[in-house]
Amino acid sequence: MEGPPQASEGGQEARREEVGRPRSRELRSRRAVAAALAAIDGLGEGRPLRLALAASLAEHPGIGPKERRHAAAATRSVARWLRVVDAALIRGHAPRSIPADRALLRYLAWRVAVEGEPPEAVARDLRLPGPRRPRAISDADVLRVARALPRPGPEGPLAVDAAGRPLSPPSDPVVALALAGSVPDPFARRLLRDLGEAEARACLRALNRDALLTLRVNAARATRAEVLAALGAAGIEAEPGEGPWAIRVEDRASLFDSAPLRTGLAEVQDESSQRVVEACRPGPGDRWLDLCAGSGGKALALAALGAEVTAWDASARRLAELPRRAHRAGARVTVAREAPSGEFDGVLVDAPCSGSGALCREPDARWRIDDAAVARFQEAQAEVLRAGARRVRPGGALVFATCSVFQEEGEGVVGPFLAANEGFRMALEERRWPHRHPGAGFYLARLERPPARGRTRLTGNGATR
Ligand SMILES: C[S@@+](CC[C@H](N)C(=O)[O-])C[C@H]1O[C@@H](n2cnc3c(N)ncnc32)[C@H](O)[C@@H]1O
Repeated sequence: MEGPPQASEGGQEARREEVGRPRSRELRSRRAVAAALAAIDGLGEGRPLRLALAASLAEHPGIGPKERRHAAAATRSVARWLRVVDAALIRGHAPRSIPADRALLRYLAWRVAVEGEPPEAVARDLRLPGPRRPRAISDADVLRVARALPRPGPEGPLAVDAAGRPLSPPSDPVVALALAGSVPDPFARRLLRDLGEAEARACLRALNRDALLTLRVNAARATRAEVLAALGAAGIEAEPGEGPWAIRVEDRASLFDSAPLRTGLAEVQDESSQRVVEACRPGPGDRWLDLCAGSGGKALALAALGAEVTAWDASARRLAELPRRAHRAGARVTVAREAPSGEFDGVLVDAPCSGSGALCREPDARWRIDDAAVARFQEAQAEVLRAGARRVRPGGALVFATCSVFQEEGEGVVGPFLAANEGFRMALEERRWPHRHPGAGFYLARLERPPARGRTRLTGNGATR
């Protein structure tokens, strides 16, 4: 899995998710439920959330915006709470022998055991002739399972049984945390090791919310006050975020048609991603290499600060979107046709990672993270960091970042690199935890290479040349 996509992430609900509160008791349309079930089925077959949802919406072309929103929210939330949903179904004695009904049961358990909706109302939405056929489970069995499911409390799902009696958590603290946060055991084990129980829970609670939508002002062409005013004029609620260019906005369909986004005065960018660019601190005219540029979120931000940016990525497909985005932003970014050579004033290594810090955006990524995957990412990160280091001129800077909450994908890469490369020193190291900082969980480090002997001219970013 790679890091979180940035600019094309529009359409996420800005609403923060809260479990345990019945939100809607209205009867869901059969088409909305059918689209949700088809997408949840896709998840069950191992498809990534985005593809499962896209396939289902393509299969249900006639459904309206409200129905699409229900299908998207249900699939997204089932992808997030899958472990809880399956545990709830075991407690509800759901039949296990009918694979065709798995999606239906997961949808049912999500609404009752996670969302806290009344069992009878949800069972009614699934009544035959129902939104899903073929199906083997009867209406009576759906209602029986619904009534036997555990219910959520203020702290989250699996708080009480169907009769309202408190449920005891598993005795193993790793399993208890993993179940509460709906993550695989190795994920919980790492958080417990690095944060302790209370903070690990807070971290998982933060990761299990929907991401807030944040914009980055294109500092080359507008001030934050100007963009805030333009958004206000378009009727979009917005407020300054933490960093100098950040604006938090409500997620509205009209946002992407508003003048600042249409004309490249602002881009969607997570607040932690913006902090990575801040740590680069390019001086005007400095030559920066973005070695893992993807579709160019950080390359554009570097260019907006006056850097001459060369963008490269191992995936040509990911880079393909960058020229269009750069044109819209009025940014000078050169997309390299082959792996760059030569030396740069600065190199950004926004490395491929597990995405464990970005579950708000990609909730299903957690199910692809195991110990072997973390080890593979760590190895790839060490390699790409070494490749980046070779492109830094004496006196230049090397910035390394991952959107991961695992020590293995941060300190565990940079520490051994510094031990083996005396030519670099740590100038800044930051861990951004999702429960302590706005934006995704990130690790970032700025390393500096001392100038060649006898050359000490300062660049705009404080490094020397
Ligand atoms: C976290 S994403 C980059 C996101 C991007 N910087 C942005 O801000 O939108 C990591 C990227 O690393 C790329 N990648 C993976 N291995 C690489 C390698 N060895 N060299 C260069 N890029 C690599 C992936 O294709 C992916 O686009």
